[in-house]
Amino acid sequence: MGKNNAIGVFDSGLGGLSAVRVLKKILPDEKIIYFGDTGRVPYGTRSPEIITKYALDDMNFLSSFGLKAALVACGTVSSVALGALREAFDIPITGVVEASAKKACEISKNKRIALLATPATVKNAAHERYINENFDGFSVMGVGCPMFVPLVENAYVSRDCKVTRMIADEYISKLYDFAPDCIILGCTHYPIIRDIILDSARKIISEDISIVDSGEEAAHEIKRFLERENLLSDEKGGSVEYYVSDEVYGFCESASLFLGETISDVRKIDITSYHYTDNN
Ligand code: DGL
Repeated sequence: MGKNNAIGVFDSGLGGLSAVRVLKKILPDEKIIYFGDTGRVPYGTRSPEIITKYALDDMNFLSSFGLKAALVACGTVSSVALGALREAFDIPITGVVEASAKKACEISKNKRIALLATPATVKNAAHERYINENFDGFSVMGVGCPMFVPLVENAYVSRDCKVTRMIADEYISKLYDFAPDCIILGCTHYPIIRDIILDSARKIISEDISIVDSGEEAAHEIKRFLERENLLSDEKGGSVEYYVSDEVYGFCESASLFLGETISDVRKIDITSYHYTDNN
């Protein structure tokens, strides 16, 4: 394989695997390098400065593989640090905000869109800005869901899990008065508890509610980009390499829930040795 032929994907932990699952399906011949910053998860409750610093390190690590494109499969980094990443790296970088916001505007009939995401993403309001700049007459209400990421990282994900259902009801009830007909899962960890969120939304808001998965929409966006730029792999048979910054064992266990298949070949790296500075 030649240089700059891989697609780099990263998240603070497991969440970005919801995008990898789709990428594997729609781009089966591509070489994908995944990095989950499991040693520093969660990002979504941290300050913009720290999130940006971590994101620059993550991309610095991935760029060492020679990338033709990168997917920031993290709603938090996509909202807070996409500009900094694009400025620092000469790689086409796609985030998860625009594709999901666009999809939500296409499917919402009552023009009331809810965003469930990390506190940092909700505070940043990138989805709302994008929607206001590109579509008329929509309202967006964001609800920060800080408990969802630890629940997912600790595999509290089965549809009948009482704890996660209770927390979902708590967050979804904040949307009762707003009455959206579309919910963006603005954090890539959330699709794994999609059924719980949907059950709760149907019970509390309305039976007629749609869900947009931001990792999935961004994966399709990457495919469109590669097609447009004539960058699709011309070799048969793709691969995925997985890297994390903390224990491999726990990651393999939970990753199978996201990917729908077991993985064993995950490597641990020291992300601090990829610390990004302006001189990189
Ligand atoms: N999966 C991430 C996101 O999409 C980050 C979650 C976190 O680390 O808090 O926002």
